[in-house]
Amino acid sequence: MLIAHISDTHILASQSGHVSADLRADCLRRCVEDINNRQPDAVIFTGDTVQVGQADEYERLRVLLGPLKPPLYLVPGNRDDQHILRGVFKGCAQLFESPEFCHYVVDEHEVRLIGLDSTLSGERKGVFCRKRQAWLDAALSARPSCPTLLFIHHPPFDVDDHYVNGYRRHDEATALANIVMRHQQVRGLVCGHVHWPVDCWWVDRPARITPSVAIDLRKGIDEKDAANRPIYMIHNLSRVEGIASQMILVST
Ligand SMILES: [Fe+2]
Repeated sequence: MLIAHISDTHILASQSGHVSADLRADCLRRCVEDINNRQPDAVIFTGDTVQVGQADEYERLRVLLGPLKPPLYLVPGNRDDQHILRGVFKGCAQLFESPEFCHYVVDEHEVRLIGLDSTLSGERKGVFCRKRQAWLDAALSARPSCPTLLFIHHPPFDVDDHYVNGYRRHDEATALANIVMRHQQVRGLVCGHVHWPVDCWWVDRPARITPSVAIDLRKGIDEKDAANRPIYMIHNLSRVEGIASQMILVST
């Protein structure tokens, strides 16, 4: 199963006057075109879809994502506004499965996908409260033998000096790790938020962070090779062999 993974597009409204408004839109447009050409089974979007959570930004995001052919599954980042996000993506039924959180299970593919919501209005860092912990434990308990991939905006582990204590409450990150430890069918976790690529192990599973799609926001990329080329990831998931991830440099 092939999954395209985009993150941290930070789309700006065209009338924002921001110097990068059109650049960021163009980065996402090129990614969508490239993804359509590769025809993955699904696309996951790990949040920070827009810059400040305003309706005109979401309207531009909706237009840019419109041509995307594979099914899209997105979770919010700290920049997102849950209420406006739901209003603009009314067709994404999974965003409405829980009244309180944008978390959900996707059972339509070879590998089960679980989107997690690590956001709290007004809070930049990741959270994973007891209600979310109970929900995830129940969701994983429902299909213990089905290979599963988790996706979330905030990495529940430290990344470099800048992202130490990425979760505000350390006990919540530990609780998330403890839940995953009890469910062997979890094959891995993919995230955004950090804007640079990370490949590591978390709770004895592979964890990946995809860099920001937006050229002006990404970090940790060799700009000699990637100049003016938006980036996203393709995860190749097998029921038995786990995850093989590839960074895609969009060329057109
Ligand atoms: Fe971001």
